Amino acid sequence: MDLSKETRYRRYEDWTDEEIKTLNENKAKSPWLSNYHIEPKTGLLNDPNGFSYFNGQFHLFYQNWPYGPAHGLKQWVHTVSDDLIHFSETGTKLLPDHPHDSHGAYSGSAYEIDGKLFIFYTGNVRDENWVRDPLQVGAFMDKNGQIEKFEEVLIQQPSDVTEHFRDPQIFDHKGQFYAIVGAQSLDKKGFIKLYKAVNNDIKNWELVGDLDFGGTGSEYMIECPNLVFVDDKPVLLYSPQGLDKAELDYDNIYPNTYKICQSFDTEKPALVGASNILNLDFGFECYATQGFNTPDGRALAVSWIGLPDIDYPTDQFDYQGAMSLVKELTLKDGKLYQYPVEAITSLRQTEEDFSERQTSQNTYELELNFKKDSKTELVLFADENHKGLHLTVDTASGKVIIDRSEAGQPFALEFGTTRECSIENSDTTVNIFIDKSIFEIFINKGEKVFTGRVFPNEDQSGIALVSGEATGKYFELSY
Ligand code: FRU
Repeated sequence: MDLSKETRYRRYEDWTDEEIKTLNENKAKSPWLSNYHIEPKTGLLNDPNGFSYFNGQFHLFYQNWPYGPAHGLKQWVHTVSDDLIHFSETGTKLLPDHPHDSHGAYSGSAYEIDGKLFIFYTGNVRDENWVRDPLQVGAFMDKNGQIEKFEEVLIQQPSDVTEHFRDPQIFDHKGQFYAIVGAQSLDKKGFIKLYKAVNNDIKNWELVGDLDFGGTGSEYMIECPNLVFVDDKPVLLYSPQGLDKAELDYDNIYPNTYKICQSFDTEKPALVGASNILNLDFGFECYATQGFNTPDGRALAVSWIGLPDIDYPTDQFDYQGAMSLVKELTLKDGKLYQYPVEAITSLRQTEEDFSERQTSQNTYELELNFKKDSKTELVLFADENHKGLHLTVDTASGKVIIDRSEAGQPFALEFGTTRECSIENSDTTVNIFIDKSIFEIFINKGEKVFTGRVFPNEDQSGIALVSGEATGKYFELSY
């Protein structure tokens, strides 16, 4: 399909019912439609947005260009959930229909204020010469899903940032509203600006300063920064573009990273005692993770299972991207753990002992145990020749390796086909969630995570044990 700039920025009202019908029909032909993960109704899904609790339910929006598998004129699409596992799309959208978001309603956050959901987002505005004016703007969504955009701009582009200034996250710290915004300095280094709502008025933001989080500026832009508090420790989640590989080892086009900090000094402003930069995920696809603290104090996060600037095999069916499971963040012995929320077990339809098998649908969970001093190789999405996604759990030499080189359709080959992380040489538990073309693998209940896609061929729906030993359970999952 034509994905020229002109097509990608065509006004929504100019798309015909016939064209939208074709998009729906093409998507329906995909053999890889997920069962229990959010995918775009049509077109491209990227960042999670506005993840929040409001009016007795969880709300999660996604960035979307609805007309094909590309980044175009973006909107937010709204979903709700009671249990953080089952999400339903409501039809409510934050459209790019205002002079302050004319070229896209870009990423942002949401927070319940006075019985309405305050949406804080970036209005992407371009002039006739395609020069960008990034505006931080706001809207309220009421309980009926009606959106009312503010006429005023909440934060204008400061003089010390380039056009790359976006993704405001609002959070409440000790009763005061703050917001952080991702930025690029004039000398092309990534940094984060901290703002404060004067008298807690979310229409009146003043700059506190550049947030010192121990960053080096080796990246050229920081996208989607967000701060969550896990057991009162600030954890900064962010997506640095162009980060120096000497600073952090990563293979994806851009990493998704975090730092665990000791305290938040709102005056300086600084995240005091920030750890080194760490990889949030060791898989092939994980970006723009958004976290928030629930009213009862839990820290939840959700990620885009996708990356900017990559073509995916689903593009042939005119759609792209998926949302991860919702993960609860906890700290254990000073380490960050990420694991799907409790209600994930409600998807289990059957429970059997683990064994090699054909799965009916590639929609299942494995809970496996591996012994200290062992090495085991499994194949997921396996065909009868053991071609598929290879998973090696090698406690003896302290690593887990995944290899998708023989798993269905090749894509993103320039970024390599294997990923690995280190583990301790000890008995190890691995929970694996498979959903058609999505895998989320949690080592030791979330100490390390591998998220990614594979697009299996028709005959790749088996589970094989190539060598070693694994015990545990197999559960079929369904929504
Ligand atoms: C991250 C990102 C954000 C931006 C949005 C636009 O993937 O580039 O920085 O707001 O996507 O869709």
